[in-house]
Amino acid sequence: MNAIVVNELTKKFGDLIAVDNVSFSVKEGELFGLLGPNGAGKTTIINMLTTLLVPTSGSALIAGFDIRNDPDNVRSNIGIIFQDPSLDIGLTGRENLEFHAMMYNIGAEERRTRIAEVLSVVHLENKADTLVEYYSGGMKRRLEIARGLIHYPRVLFLDEPTLGLDAQTRRSIWDYIRNLNREYKTTVILTTHYMEEADYLCERIAIIDNGKIIALDTPQRLKDEYKSDSVSLTIEGPSDPLLSGLKGKEWVREIAADNGNVLLKVINGEDNIPHLFQIAHATGVVISSVSLHKPSLEDVFIHLTGASIREEDGSKRAGMREKHRRRMMR
Ligand SMILES: Nc1ncnc2c1ncn2[C@@H]1O[C@H](COP(=O)(O)OP(=O)(O)OP(=O)(O)O)[C@@H](O)[C@H]1O
Ligand SMILES: [Mg+2]
Repeated sequence: MNAIVVNELTKKFGDLIAVDNVSFSVKEGELFGLLGPNGAGKTTIINMLTTLLVPTSGSALIAGFDIRNDPDNVRSNIGIIFQDPSLDIGLTGRENLEFHAMMYNIGAEERRTRIAEVLSVVHLENKADTLVEYYSGGMKRRLEIARGLIHYPRVLFLDEPTLGLDAQTRRSIWDYIRNLNREYKTTVILTTHYMEEADYLCERIAIIDNGKIIALDTPQRLKDEYKSDSVSLTIEGPSDPLLSGLKGKEWVREIAADNGNVLLKVINGEDNIPHLFQIAHATGVVISSVSLHKPSLEDVFIHLTGASIREEDGSKRAGMREKHRRRMMR
């Protein structure tokens, strides 16, 4: 059963097509990521799926309910953590949770139990009665996650859950997200522009650029499909015997040699390095050092779009893409 089914969803703001005919589905219990640079359309997708924004065209089902025809049922089955903080800093953590639980018509006794439970999920029991104004950034984010869980949603939407947090806090938030996905079987869909976040957390990732999904798969398969491993060797003496020994090997994708350095693109680097040594040995070449670089999602993104995801400036990205397109056409 799918928790989310998105069918040809489009959102236009005037002439701008922010989300362009996007289709995907998320299985129940899955941890799914939308990865893309600033302005890719991630928040716009989330806003449509959570019924905050009406699509220009297309449709979606959340927990089996249609976002257009059945928004109330959609809302009661989802939790949302917005990209922009939305806590009341003049209230304590507990009061924020109380208020939210009341909006979901959860009775007083049930509220007490659930608040205690969600506070313990994010380890904020000790801060429950402190004003949110005095929380750190990471604590605020954890409180928002707790708040998103208060009505036991079947599907949790997290828009940039760790934006602007330091590496250590980010990692602890990742652990909370992973735990609640595993222990509570909550389906999680998150957006991020952090490659390592998508790579670490998500079972499958849709890479979004300019409102379109340009790739969708597991992080590992995306890496396997779009990039091979890089192996660089330093050798003693001429490289020609090694190069001829490697010719025609199906696991070698590319070879470049320069002054005692040989750079190879290979499939399954760690499995084939021993073969590489055997061939070197057989051809009388001595390898004095070897290094293996496994592709990252960043490499995949650059491969697909011709630009790094960290480029904040859209016009620069467009320029990079054009350069990349010309390079590919050559
Ligand atoms: N209400 C709106 N009116 C007009 N344009 C909008 C509106 N909301 C978003 N956009 C535009 O739609 C595009 C997608 O924006 P969106 O916020 O969905 O991107 P995003 O992928 O979430 O980016 P970020 O990583 O910066 O959060 C952007 O060009 C943005 O300027
Ligand atoms: Mg956004």
